[in-house]
Amino acid sequence: MDPQQALIIIKPDAVQRGLMGKILKRFEDVGLKIVAFKFEWADREKIIAHYPETDEWFGKVGQRTLKNYGAKGLEAKEMLGTDDPVAIGKMVKSWLIDYMSESPLLFAVVEGYETIHIVRKLCGDTNPMNALPGTIRGDFSHDNIDLANGRRRPLRNIIHGTDAVEEASKEINLWFRPEELHTYARADEEIMF
Ligand code: CDP
Ligand code: MG
Repeated sequence: MDPQQALIIIKPDAVQRGLMGKILKRFEDVGLKIVAFKFEWADREKIIAHYPETDEWFGKVGQRTLKNYGAKGLEAKEMLGTDDPVAIGKMVKSWLIDYMSESPLLFAVVEGYETIHIVRKLCGDTNPMNALPGTIRGDFSHDNIDLANGRRRPLRNIIHGTDAVEEASKEINLWFRPEELHTYARADEEIMF
């Protein structure tokens, strides 16, 4: 089994609340190796490139909104003017661009075995209301989809973590140059790697 890399981005709500250290600690504590790290304002164009531009992704995001509205008996059409998942996904993406432009972002690449699974586990559910205690989103946020999307803004959910193996290298190459990724040994590496 080869080690895997994943991108994490500490989002503006966490930067604004001074949570960067606490969040990075979660990844260090489980033994993932931080191999790249930067803190900078993101170009709008790069944020656009970061979130997929496919109907599949828009549909997935929009479906999440519809599912939440449905569970609460809310009408997406009334609240957002449409119940088309792809159209809702496109709206969410446009809100994300503003959200990710509110502050500098902390970008890091973490490495280890089954990294993407571990990163998602540490981050917790996308919808902070459902993220379990002990996860980053569950411990540091309590936003929810119908509140957020009903106010025409994205979920303020603290962190981005790569969610698929196929997306990892695209995301990492978008934000980091190859020479910014470092190779070194962690002290506990003999046991782990
Ligand atoms: O970030 P994650 O991979 O968990 O979720 P995603 O489905 O890839 O969506 C990207 C981001 O869009 C989320 O982290 C939320 O900030 C936002 N989002 C939203 O505001 N409303 C939705 N219905 C779905 C996603
Ligand atoms: Mg995602």
